Amino acid sequence: MKALQDRIVVVTGGAQGLGEGIVRRVAADGASVVIADLRYEQANALASSLSEAGVPAMAVKADVSKREDVRHLVESVVAKFGRIDVMFNNAGFNKPLPFFEVDEDNFTSIYRVNALGVMVCMQEVGKQMIAQKTGGKIINTASIAGRQGYAEFAPYCASKAAVISLTQAAARELARHKVTVNAIAPGVVVTPLWEGLEKDMIDKGVIKERGEFIESFSSNILLGRPAHPKDLAGIASFLAGPDSDYITGQVIMCDGGMVLV
Ligand SMILES: NC(=O)c1ccc[n+]([C@@H]2O[C@H](COP(=O)([O-])OP(=O)(O)OC[C@H]3O[C@@H](n4cnc5c(N)ncnc54)[C@H](O)[C@@H]3O)[C@@H](O)[C@H]2O)c1
Repeated sequence: MKALQDRIVVVTGGAQGLGEGIVRRVAADGASVVIADLRYEQANALASSLSEAGVPAMAVKADVSKREDVRHLVESVVAKFGRIDVMFNNAGFNKPLPFFEVDEDNFTSIYRVNALGVMVCMQEVGKQMIAQKTGGKIINTASIAGRQGYAEFAPYCASKAAVISLTQAAARELARHKVTVNAIAPGVVVTPLWEGLEKDMIDKGVIKERGEFIESFSSNILLGRPAHPKDLAGIASFLAGPDSDYITGQVIMCDGGMVLV
C-alpha cells in the first residue's frame, strides 16, 4: 500500500511551482488531490492530466484571502470526496520593494494573502476536520524569510514569520482534535515566483539582468545550489503521511543549509 493511499489532500497554490511539486508527489504516493488556486485554468489542466493518469483529482478556483472562497473550497471537496485529510496552505506571493519604498498597499496586500490567507484556511479546514472526528494534518508553507529578514522584501518576511506563529498557535488549538499543524520553510526554490521577483528588481534598478538576484541570493547555500520543487516533495509527503503523526507545531527547514537556526 502506498504511503498516502486514499488520503484526501488539498493544496492551495497548487497550479504551479512548489505547490505543483507537492500535488504531483502526493498523487504519486496514492492521495486524491484538490488543486486550489487563483489560476483556475492552469489548476484544471493539472487536475485533468492527473485524472487521465488514474488519480482522483479536481481543481477549485479560490482566493485564499477570501473567506467565502475558502468555504466554497471546503464544501466542494467534501461534496466530491466526503472529507479533507490533509491541507497544504501553500499559496503565497511576493512583490519586492526597496525597504524605504514599502507602502501600505504593498505591505497589506502581501500580508493579506500570505498570513491572513493561512489563518482563514486553517480556521475553515480546521472546523471541517473537527466535525469529521478523523483528525487531520495541516501543513503551511513558511520560508527562510520567516526566520531571517531581508531588506528587499520586508513585508514578505513579516508575513512568513506570521505563518510560523500561526502554525504554533493552531497546533496548540487543534492538538486535542488530533489535528497536527506543521510548516515547511524552503530557501530558494526555482519556480515562476522568481521570474516575477527578477522582473521587479530589474524595474527598480536593483539588478541589471535576469538570474542575478537568484544567483546572489543562492550564493550562501551550503549544498551549493537552489532547490527545485522535487527537493521539497519528500518532506511534504512525510508531513502528509502517518510517519509524522507525533510531530506538531514544528517548522521543518528545507533550504540546503542556507539559514542555520
Ligand atoms: N520559490 C521560492 O524560492 C520560495 C521560497 C520560500 C517559500 N516560498 C513559498 O512557497 C509558496 C509557493 O511559492 P512558489 O515559488 O511555488 O510560487 P509561484 O508563484 O510559482 O506559485 C504560487 C501559486 O500560488 C497561487 N496563488 C497566489 N496567490 C493566491 C491566492 N490569493 N489564492 C490562491 N492561490 C494563490 C498562484 O496563482 C500560483 O499558482 C509560497 O507561499 C511562497 O511564498 C517560495
